[in-house]
Amino acid sequence: MTSGEVAPLPLIPRLRAKLVRALGPTALFLKGFAKHPVMVGALVPSSRRTIDRVLSKVDWEQCRLFVEYGPGVGTFSRPVLQRMRRDARLVVIDTNAEFIGYLSRTIVDPRFSAVHASASDVEAIVAAHGFEHADYVLSGLPFTTLPPGVGQEIMAATHRVLRSGGAFLVYQYTARARALMRRWFDRIDEGYEPINIPPCVISWGWKD
Ligand SMILES: C[S@@+](CC[C@H](N)C(=O)[O-])C[C@H]1O[C@@H](n2cnc3c(N)ncnc32)[C@H](O)[C@@H]1O
Repeated sequence: MTSGEVAPLPLIPRLRAKLVRALGPTALFLKGFAKHPVMVGALVPSSRRTIDRVLSKVDWEQCRLFVEYGPGVGTFSRPVLQRMRRDARLVVIDTNAEFIGYLSRTIVDPRFSAVHASASDVEAIVAAHGFEHADYVLSGLPFTTLPPGVGQEIMAATHRVLRSGGAFLVYQYTARARALMRRWFDRIDEGYEPINIPPCVISWGWKD
């Protein structure tokens, strides 16, 4: 091989790269799960039914800043952008650098920003985008497997960052997140979506 040539990838990584390309975002999500099962917390992205259900309570006319925690490969981010006003902003926050890289490359929309950070940094991130408060915060975080104390930290920061009348929209496979939410949100609407893998507990916590 001459110095200008690039060495071919060995067979297994080459096959893996081919599979990721062929399957697209679902493969990237699976790969993310295989690498960081505790942090990702789910084998496949949320179902269309879950997305429609969770977003059904959003008043899009009143929404200027929508924040999403744990977007993964953008299963919710794209439907949120489809529903959002033209002058609104969507800021997504994920601890997985590969997911953030993928979202930044594939979602080309001036209303969209993808930030590689933890949801507990939400207040600084909202301020860095020029806002005092968020209208809605959506979470797909695996609260059951977050390190001790981080769930409460995220709940407290989310409650502070929301405007009065705003809401925290949470979907999870157990009721753990709802139990954590009760300390911060007086009014919680409850839902359940069976057509999801696995079926999903939905909570809408309102900041009155
Ligand atoms: C169950 S996946 C949700 C995927 C996607 N939203 C969906 O509906 O299919 C959980 C996501 O939370 C991210 N995550 C885990 N801990 C986090 C944290 N402290 N802050 C932000 N994102 C986090 C993971 O990297 C992963 O992308």
